[in-house]
Amino acid sequence: MATSVVLEKVEKHYGKVPVIHGIDLRIDPGEFAVFVGPSGCGKSTLLRMIAGLEEITGGALLLDDERMNEVPAAKRGIAMVFQSYALYPHMSVYKNLAFGLETAGLKKAEIEPRVRRAAQILRIEPLLDRKPKALSGGQRQRVAIGRAIVREPKIFLFDEPLSNLDAELRVQMRVEITTLHRDLGNTMIYVTHDQVEAMTMADKIVVLNGGNIEQVGAPLELYNHPVNRFVAGFIGSPKMNFLEGSVAAREPGTTVLKVGGEEVRLPRDIRAAAGDPVTLGVRPEHLTPDPGAGVRLVEARVDLIEHLGGETVLHARAPDGQSLTLSLDGQQKVAAGDLIPVCIDPERCHVFGADGLAL
Ligand SMILES: Nc1ncnc2c1ncn2[C@@H]1O[C@H](COP(=O)(O)OP(=O)(O)O)[C@@H](O)[C@H]1O
Ligand SMILES: [Mg+2]
Repeated sequence: MATSVVLEKVEKHYGKVPVIHGIDLRIDPGEFAVFVGPSGCGKSTLLRMIAGLEEITGGALLLDDERMNEVPAAKRGIAMVFQSYALYPHMSVYKNLAFGLETAGLKKAEIEPRVRRAAQILRIEPLLDRKPKALSGGQRQRVAIGRAIVREPKIFLFDEPLSNLDAELRVQMRVEITTLHRDLGNTMIYVTHDQVEAMTMADKIVVLNGGNIEQVGAPLELYNHPVNRFVAGFIGSPKMNFLEGSVAAREPGTTVLKVGGEEVRLPRDIRAAAGDPVTLGVRPEHLTPDPGAGVRLVEARVDLIEHLGGETVLHARAPDGQSLTLSLDGQQKVAAGDLIPVCIDPERCHVFGADGLAL
């Protein structure tokens, strides 16, 4: 049976300095939730309050509807995996996995099957006799995860566990942790500053910024319907383009925007009046140099081209100096210095008001 996690108006102050400003959140039993946001936004603090490693200054933490604020870390049924693997260097892998259970007073006969099972799940059985220094980074991270598994926790917490690994290994471990979640079915909370990890791993993403939640939703909900400019810019790579403009006219079911001297007719109503300043948001993958596929917005000069093989990313500049990023399928015959039309599909435009909220 997996466990639900509920935060009610959770706050954290360090002395007089508030860092978490009253967070309300529900994570369903068995869910894989990812806390994502820029460095310093409060992800680790929030996770450590759930773990019981930080005192909760205000509000309540409930696990399966039971208040946990005063319950010590060891009694919460939570295991946490850190970025620094925190393995004991002088102990074998087996001993690293067994040690926590030994100190908790479990008998050898109970410990052995747990260690074997965790080693099997993580495919580190051949490594049980080695010391950590004889392991690769990925193997060390697996041992650190194994140490959480043997405790048979109700909830797994991960704080940027893959940050020390190289890019290829990160992708591999991402898949392994997602598979582990599918196989175990536990509630898991995973902290990262990497929106790609969030998008690829999460059932539910919680976007944090400055100690507040900006938006909670499934990965594609956030991609398709960001509630504000922060989330729009944070989720998706390359980043969304933002262009300043204004509302030129409104007709039922249609909004005409004026952007860079051109008119863009959006096939919907927005919550803004004629004359209001707005920001048009459009993702690089929704811009194209093909005038047949949208409204021609500007002619832009190509500054830089990134040939990735499967896609081509163009960094270009409009006559007014506005920079634009286009992400095109496949391989393109474009050279730096070329002038290209930049066209948008009005169906795929986001519009934000002066306060940053989606309209
Ligand atoms: N022990 C502490 N004392 C004072 N401020 C802290 C302490 N720990 C974290 N902070 C501050 O709290 C904020 C959130 O930190 P943290 O949760 O570590 O962010 P993140 O994990 O998102 O990078 C930061 O501004 C940080 O400087
Ligand atoms: Mg952190």
